[in-house]
Amino acid sequence: MKENGSDPMETVMVNASAVYPVYIGGGLLDRCGELLPRHTAARRCAVITDDTVCPLYAPRLCRSLEAAGLEAVLYAVPAGEQHKTLSTYGSILNFLAESRITRSDCVVALGGGVAGDMAGFAAATYQRGIDFVQVPTTFLAASDASVGGKTAVDLPAGKNLAGAFWQPKAVLCDTDTFSTLPEDAFRDGTAETLKHGLIADKDFFHFLIETDMRENIDKVVRRNVEIKAAVVAEDEREQGRRKILNFGHTLGHAIEKCSGYRVSHGHAVATGMVLAARAAEALGYGGKGTLAAVLAACERYGLPTACPYSAGELYAAATGDKKRSGGHIDVVVLREVGRAETVRLDMEGLRAFTEAAL
Ligand SMILES: NC(=O)c1ccc[n+]([C@@H]2O[C@H](COP(=O)([O-])OP(=O)(O)OC[C@H]3O[C@@H](n4cnc5c(N)ncnc54)[C@H](O)[C@@H]3O)[C@@H](O)[C@H]2O)c1
Ligand SMILES: [Zn+2]
Repeated sequence: MKENGSDPMETVMVNASAVYPVYIGGGLLDRCGELLPRHTAARRCAVITDDTVCPLYAPRLCRSLEAAGLEAVLYAVPAGEQHKTLSTYGSILNFLAESRITRSDCVVALGGGVAGDMAGFAAATYQRGIDFVQVPTTFLAASDASVGGKTAVDLPAGKNLAGAFWQPKAVLCDTDTFSTLPEDAFRDGTAETLKHGLIADKDFFHFLIETDMRENIDKVVRRNVEIKAAVVAEDEREQGRRKILNFGHTLGHAIEKCSGYRVSHGHAVATGMVLAARAAEALGYGGKGTLAAVLAACERYGLPTACPYSAGELYAAATGDKKRSGGHIDVVVLREVGRAETVRLDMEGLRAFTEAAL
């Protein structure tokens, strides 16, 4: 319980091309109506959510907006990565048009990373871009996806292949919403959290191993957001440094794709980090002991460490990945726990990396 009288909300500022706050704390859903008008002049809000989150949290969010004199219109897409498609995205655009949302209104994304990425892409493109606020309800979305302005949908050829950079006006993370997350969905968030420690903050990484994320959730979300915000502030458009956030993602995305998206993003990234650390150590890019650290961390949080696919299957899936540009691909390796760098590989190098990963 939070103390009476004190404001339990934490705020982290993101200094990208736009500057915006990430509010973190319990009970924030009921404060959307109070907080949102500080960051957008919009009086009408299109709340975009999914059909799992909708009955759980949309009524409270809409009530809070309406109590503050804002109008809310609500649209729920089917839940799940398999619906992160052009067709669902198109249905959101049609909803915005049919609801007569204008350029002075705003989109509020309520849900996990899937709803946030799609609603964000709709906000980025509807009438060439309208205001957008993120209200993440998964640990993963609060700690990663809702911050940094990447929005996207998947194409049959691979994940997140169509999208835009579009920064939100504000992010409101109500950490109480994690109480209804299935265990597996919570675990997805632990994977991206461990990633942040592994690439950028050794002390945070050790704190995560020695304590329990759930028991320190506001603090853990806050540190995640600080780490991501610092990287994004340096390189919003992923020309260089931001690539380190993709640690575990080249082979992680390949695993997601090979599984027909039945393996969730966080679980795939966990295995992807193990594979990347193993390959990096074997090929001399990774610091000694980094594989052991990744393995121990994944085991501590019940994340999968073994890959059910062959090197050939992963390689084929990874070469459809957008992070391949020209004849090369940048993979992220850990020089030591808390310090990541990218290594540029040609296609033969990627094949060798994938083989060494298994
Ligand atoms: N934009 C970025 O920078 C970025 C970063 C990381 C991940 N992502 C994307 O995020 C997506 C993964 O996000 P995710 O893990 O949040 O998945 P998700 O949005 O699919 O949510 C997981 C499941 O939990 C349900 N759910 C959400 N909140 C709930 C709650 N509070 N209680 C009960 N159920 C709830 C959802 O309906 C869904 O079924 C991937 O598509 C990934 O590519 C984007
Ligand atoms: Zn990710």
